[in-house]
Amino acid sequence: MRRKPVVLITGASGEMGHGLIERLSERGGSLDILALDIRELSPELKARCAHTLVGATLDQFLLGRLVSEFESHAVFHLAALLSTRSEFTPETAHQVNVGGTLNLLKLAVEQSRWHGQRVKFMFPSTIAIYGIPDLATKQRAGRVNEDQFLTPATMYGANKLYCEHLGRYYSRHYRQLAVEKERAGIDFRSIRFPGLISAFTVPSGGTSDYAPEMIHAAAQDQPYACFVREDARIPFMAMPDGIDALLRLMDAAPEALTRVVYNIGAFNPSAGEIAELTRKAFPGAMISFQPDLKRQGIVDSWPADVDDSAARRDWGWKPAHDLGTTFHEYLVPNIRQRYARA
Ligand code: SER
Repeated sequence: MRRKPVVLITGASGEMGHGLIERLSERGGSLDILALDIRELSPELKARCAHTLVGATLDQFLLGRLVSEFESHAVFHLAALLSTRSEFTPETAHQVNVGGTLNLLKLAVEQSRWHGQRVKFMFPSTIAIYGIPDLATKQRAGRVNEDQFLTPATMYGANKLYCEHLGRYYSRHYRQLAVEKERAGIDFRSIRFPGLISAFTVPSGGTSDYAPEMIHAAAQDQPYACFVREDARIPFMAMPDGIDALLRLMDAAPEALTRVVYNIGAFNPSAGEIAELTRKAFPGAMISFQPDLKRQGIVDSWPADVDDSAARRDWGWKPAHDLGTTFHEYLVPNIRQRYARA
């Protein structure tokens, strides 16, 4: 009896899940989509998936059932508690972000033992794994490369950084002392994403959320009090480029990859510059700046920009959108349409 071959997506109903499921379902391919999330998927998203499961990545019973019914050849492990939310419940964040990832890595190894092929394990990491001690150092640091400032100030950042290590361990060193050398069952690949901005969904629980929140509020004629200073600066990216990066990295030939984890960048406006563009696009926008010093502190510890030359060199990373086209071609028309319909 053959189990159904699938690509498994956890956190399927989150922002990245939405974008990824749309793109994967359009691109077709030999693998059906199996979506897992703690919430029921929207009917539109559900229609794009062959199978859906409601439940947590910490539910061993559910994961066992999943192995008995499906044969996962690729995993996009997107489920996580983001940086702000994780600070309210750090221990729960650890369980979800680390425990959930460990469960999925174990599942992927087991799946690979069954079907004899390596399971591609795609893992979104984040600029939150960086921790820069103060603003003067942040300014001096400029474009930060993958090996600098690996001292995160948040539980989420610490969790993601550790999971990058777990992925590398499972890919390259798993059970290294076993008598019989075991074939690596997992091909773990990870991207450190900047803040992502989608025209179709709004984030929840992150600290880069001020950018998408500001734009979506303006489009709905709602006032928005930005929780960081006007000069706060971190990298951002249009969601379609983020999804494109995940798929590009997944498709890259293994011999082209010199790293397990890659930075990617697109643009890095200050919060004030985002407000300026938002006001131009939505002249009635009511944006004020009321920094929350604690959330501001988290943003200050993240780099102002990232060095993504390894991704550009190894797998041809190049964002399709710069700041201007993100606003004028992707965000503004789609957001306008979205709220005009609502
Ligand atoms: N967008 C995420 C957050 O703000 C960063 O990975 O938590």
